[in-house]
Amino acid sequence: MKILVLNGPNINFLGIREPEIYGGNTYNDLVQIVTDHALTRKVKVEFYQSNHEGDLVDAIQKAYYDKVDGIVFNPAAYTHTSIAILDALKAVSIPTVEVHISDVSAREDFRSISYVRQVAVKTICGKGFAGYTEAIDFLIERMKEKK
Ligand code: DQA
Repeated sequence: MKILVLNGPNINFLGIREPEIYGGNTYNDLVQIVTDHALTRKVKVEFYQSNHEGDLVDAIQKAYYDKVDGIVFNPAAYTHTSIAILDALKAVSIPTVEVHISDVSAREDFRSISYVRQVAVKTICGKGFAGYTEAIDFLIERMKEKK
């Protein structure tokens, strides 16, 4: 089983950006935590982060050709704005878990809108980095059920 862990704009700035909201750990820490977890669960994980909407669309399309089984996706600010990303997810039909480090429902009103949620098989918010490992576990269990 192969999972793509996809992150949108400013996630590379974890540890620097608003630590009171996102914590003090870095993007590299996130990659390490998720890699370690994936090893224990015996699944392959690939990581991609971009600050650019079109790059994220390209990464979703590439996941189709690479036969990725599931996507763990924090689209960051593009969650609230991007129809292009929604359309890409609809196009590839790869089960996607939407993850947010912070609890977006408890923040500004504009963060309560999510285009990605329309296609996500699950949304996890406000659990910090643990949201990513929970998303991996969810995708593994879902795959087992579908077999
Ligand atoms: C975020 C929440 C978004 O509203 C924000 O734009 C982000 C990060 C989160 O992980 O909590 O960049 O997706």
